Amino acid sequence: MLTASALACDHQPRPAGVPVGSGSPPHFSWQLAADGSNVFQTARRLQVATDPAFARCVWDSGRTECPDSVDVPYAGPVMAPETKHWWRVRIWDNQGRESDWSETADFITALDGWTAPFVSGEPADAAASSAGTVLRGEFSLGKGIASAILHATALGVYRLSLNGVRVGDWAMTPGWTEYASRLLYQSYDVTAMLREGANAVGAMIGNGWYKGSLAGWLGLRNLYGKQTAFAMRLTVRYADGTTTVFQTGPEWKAADGPVLFSEIYDGETYDATREIPGWDAPGFDASGWRAVLPVAFDSAVVRPQDGPPVRARERLRPAAIFTAPNGEKIIDFGQVVTGWVRVSVAGKAGDAVRIRHAETLDRDGNFYTANLRSAKQQIKYVLKGGAEEVYEPYFTFQGFRYICVDEFPGAFGADNFTAVVAHSDMPEICAFDSSHDKLNRLMQNIRWGMKGNFFDIPTDCPQRDERLGWTGDAQVFVRAASILHDASAFFRKWLRDMAAAQFPDGAVPHVVPDILTGNVPDGDKIDVVHGTTGWGDAGVICPWTQYKYSGDRRFLEECYPMMKGWVEFIRSRAQWGLIWNRDRHLGDWVALDAKEGSYFGATPVDLIATAYYAHATSLTARAAGILGRDDEAREYARLRERIGDAFVKEFFSPAGRLAARTQTGYVLALHFGLVPEEHRARVLRELAEVLAEYGDHLSTGFLGTPYICHALSENGRLDLAYKLLLNEDYPSWLYPLSKGATTIWEHWDGIKPDGTMWSDDMNSLNHYAYGAIADWIVSVVAGIDSEAGPGGAGYRRSVVRPRPGGGLTRASAAQKTPYGTLSSAWTLDGTRLTLEVTVPHNTAATVVLPAGDIVENGGLAFAFNGGGQAATAPSGAYRFVVENAILA
Ligand code: BGC
Repeated sequence: MLTASALACDHQPRPAGVPVGSGSPPHFSWQLAADGSNVFQTARRLQVATDPAFARCVWDSGRTECPDSVDVPYAGPVMAPETKHWWRVRIWDNQGRESDWSETADFITALDGWTAPFVSGEPADAAASSAGTVLRGEFSLGKGIASAILHATALGVYRLSLNGVRVGDWAMTPGWTEYASRLLYQSYDVTAMLREGANAVGAMIGNGWYKGSLAGWLGLRNLYGKQTAFAMRLTVRYADGTTTVFQTGPEWKAADGPVLFSEIYDGETYDATREIPGWDAPGFDASGWRAVLPVAFDSAVVRPQDGPPVRARERLRPAAIFTAPNGEKIIDFGQVVTGWVRVSVAGKAGDAVRIRHAETLDRDGNFYTANLRSAKQQIKYVLKGGAEEVYEPYFTFQGFRYICVDEFPGAFGADNFTAVVAHSDMPEICAFDSSHDKLNRLMQNIRWGMKGNFFDIPTDCPQRDERLGWTGDAQVFVRAASILHDASAFFRKWLRDMAAAQFPDGAVPHVVPDILTGNVPDGDKIDVVHGTTGWGDAGVICPWTQYKYSGDRRFLEECYPMMKGWVEFIRSRAQWGLIWNRDRHLGDWVALDAKEGSYFGATPVDLIATAYYAHATSLTARAAGILGRDDEAREYARLRERIGDAFVKEFFSPAGRLAARTQTGYVLALHFGLVPEEHRARVLRELAEVLAEYGDHLSTGFLGTPYICHALSENGRLDLAYKLLLNEDYPSWLYPLSKGATTIWEHWDGIKPDGTMWSDDMNSLNHYAYGAIADWIVSVVAGIDSEAGPGGAGYRRSVVRPRPGGGLTRASAAQKTPYGTLSSAWTLDGTRLTLEVTVPHNTAATVVLPAGDIVENGGLAFAFNGGGQAATAPSGAYRFVVENAILA
């Protein structure tokens, strides 16, 4: 048996908005399902058609000798725009088998350029308004509708309906991008929603990121415009082959709707008495409505959706309902989440429900909102009266675990409130388990931290008046993110915004979309040069990481100019082009070795900046090599060597003393390969000493934390890495669990041992950065990693090297790779290690076992390498047993 399954186009099962044109053909991927082991694809045949029976085939590749089953580019003629296509594949393997055709998968091609005009229900200057508007258009269709595709976008956020029924289930569309360069439109197959005769489209529009308040502490708003607007195009194809197009235009009508107020940070006020029955259905009398106003917008920047949409993904019931000591009525959903609350209520017209959202209670058990800063996170719903009414906010989202019910008609119970968890739709791809319950809970908290902050862009936090795409946070967490969820399409979208936001001198901004440049007053902590170490490095580290885990070279192809630009920016700022010892930096942000009351860690920023410069240059050199830019690969490899030499001269004494006696200083030097061999032992000894000074606890901030366990385990101190991972007292990854944490905190001591809070000013309880440790947990504890070079990326060649320690008796990870599930599960009984491994077809793994007596070898021949005993395992399931294992 041989089958091609799990078909994906550009990493999504059924994408809509696949670009047409020869410049960026879609890529197809599938997995091999087959009996047996050592299965490799030898040939494939792909077909793409405009009908599910493949009668109208637009591309038949024919049988092609080709081992690739991931990211195979479309190579047919230019496809018709806004058309549904079906594709399938048939494969041959190294065992002489031929598959049947796979099941078919479909995708919808994008428009060939945006033409629909933008129209608004607001006056040209509605800067101060936070109210929503409603827009409608009506059109008539003839007989025999064969297919219909609708594309929509907004300056603001929209909720669309067709003939009174909501279109799609995406939230906060069109999302947040660098609007001046990229505004995305969404495409929907609406064939089943249309009818012969009169049809109506209705759009509710809110401020969103486009026009609403942002960066509350700076009081910004109207960053992109003072007037919301909407644009759509519907193309209907009839069975006879003719088409008709309906789009926004001057004949559309507008009115004020039931959304009286909606802002991302502050919440929403919805007055159901102002709902307009039938407003989005055909035949509605809109004669009392006002004419829409045209809004000029550069249609050249309107592009197809290129990331996963935000949608409601989970629903949580109240875990507890209680009255706080101060008398407030509280509901606890048991988990810090991002999303909104669904209210279901019955009452009379004019009654109201008012709720506020918060992440935690204070030491006394009262509702705590101080860490939200100016964000109100408040919802008010005014009832229309009568039967049960159900309401979910339209254009806002909150970070919360608790709600405080300030107003409700009559008594309420668990049935009245549901927490709706919303985030960018990314499949979970890693299941981890171990004998250590708290470690397992930590992994869950990390995942919740990710779900809470991957909301169209990677936000720093989802609750206070910030929620921005901080580049540093994202680069710190990107490896963990790519292991836990399939985040490749999410990063594809965001990296395009990052490239759009990159400055002409190559600097990468602190936040993407960049709303801070030009808007931050002098003297603010982030009023630093526009590229800062560890944050701008996202421009190199994120594309590299996406390439490594997805195997999609397009990350490097598209982002190489950005990577190179960042390295050249640093070169232009650095002394002799080698030591970056000027400019203000955020440094090892919120490290524990900072001075009292400061956010800036103790590690000198020139050391950090030069170390990151070396790292970025080394990744850029590798990217150049993979892209076949050999001259540049050599040039950057040489530059990396010179930075390394300069680093040693500048930051090491001749006897090997590092200029910074901090954990982060040692960690970066070790992990980025900047420690000369002759100094390694001393550096390690001193790192252990500095850890001992903190009682074998970490004191690192944003930039040292992701690498601290790697630096230790790569250098013979696996024991210390486990110690840090499993410490339960403050400061540690597990300490917050003792305070009931269900996510990752911004500070190691967000809630202090005595129950008091870190300063209100900066104390997010849902900040994913320190969750970066998930990368070490999966790649070292469970022992699964992808190689990164050509032929290895995307887990085509992986490494399975579990390194038991910390008293754990078992650990396992099952990683859904682009090729299928790669898993590693070990158990330890004294010094007897049993390891079970599954390697997906069309891939191989290097399995590394610890020194000891291999008594079951899975049929493989092991040989000693630097790290243990290694063998190559082609696809299949294996069991290995090592007795007298030497674990270190
Ligand atoms: C954010 C951080 C960010 C930092 C840098 C904070 O307000 O929450 O995560 O990276 O600022 O200044």
